[in-house]
Amino acid sequence: MKIRILGSGAGGGFPQWNCNCNNCRRLRHNEMNGKARTQSSIAVSSDNNNWLLINASPDIRAQLEAFPAIQPKEGLRDTSIKAVLLMDSQIDHATGLLMLREGKPLDIYCSEMVKQDLTSGFPIFNMLSHYCTVNHHPIPVDGSSFTILALADLRFYTRALKSKAPPYSPHRHDPHEGDNIGVVIEQQSTGKKVFYSPGLGEIEEHVMSAMQTADCLLVDGTFWTEDEMIDQQVGKKQASQMGHLPQSGSGGMIEVLNKIPNARKILIHINNTNPILDEDSGQRKILDVADIEVAYDGMEIDL
Ligand code: MLT
Ligand code: MN
Ligand code: ZN
Repeated sequence: MKIRILGSGAGGGFPQWNCNCNNCRRLRHNEMNGKARTQSSIAVSSDNNNWLLINASPDIRAQLEAFPAIQPKEGLRDTSIKAVLLMDSQIDHATGLLMLREGKPLDIYCSEMVKQDLTSGFPIFNMLSHYCTVNHHPIPVDGSSFTILALADLRFYTRALKSKAPPYSPHRHDPHEGDNIGVVIEQQSTGKKVFYSPGLGEIEEHVMSAMQTADCLLVDGTFWTEDEMIDQQVGKKQASQMGHLPQSGSGGMIEVLNKIPNARKILIHINNTNPILDEDSGQRKILDVADIEVAYDGMEIDL
């Protein structure tokens, strides 16, 4: 299985257009050792030819242009994107669907809750019905599995987890199963598994069990601390209020990942305020010691 990190940043990307925080300012002025990042999306393939897009970021145009394997191969109009799987209905994960409107009907796999958001608070499925149209495929949120015809060697185990529905969702303050999901993707011919969850607020028992089955973990790397946005005076919300488990501290993501010694561990969906974006930072050293990697745009993982 091949996994291409199309975008490793959180909503806003890095640097964020209007942000002068310590990281954004220093990156823009070449004063830090770090990499710019586009917004959150990955692509997965078992044959290096047919791809599943997971999340569709507002930066999708640049992400696809930077990735020849997914570009048109034959005929006047073509794509190697056979389907799209959505983890939630957040702006950074769904807006890119609008940029795919010139193509054939989009086969979109998402939960009933995400479909509700994308036909109400953020009605892009309705909008796309005037362009390419959407074939919505409902997915399980109880950990049971499904396959996608055009990507037959891959099996997907999807399950609801605790994070947050977006502010425009009817469920923002009334959480429903399936507002956010995590996925284990198994390549059936090799048995290799990746766990992907860019928005993960709480490690429930079933999440830990799913993580323990995986060869590679691609998990929420949004914030280093619970009060990061508040401390840096760029926001009023704590990490937990946004549905993200911070990396540091008791019960944080580093502690969680330390309990899973055999998997390759990679943080993804990194917010521009996170000190780990500075590759010379003390926080980055802590990750190095714990054998935890930080995803970057264009990173490829072979499993
Ligand atoms: C989130 O995951 O919390 C989002 O990246 C926030 C946003 O897009 O504004
Ligand atoms: Mn996000
Ligand atoms: Zn910033």
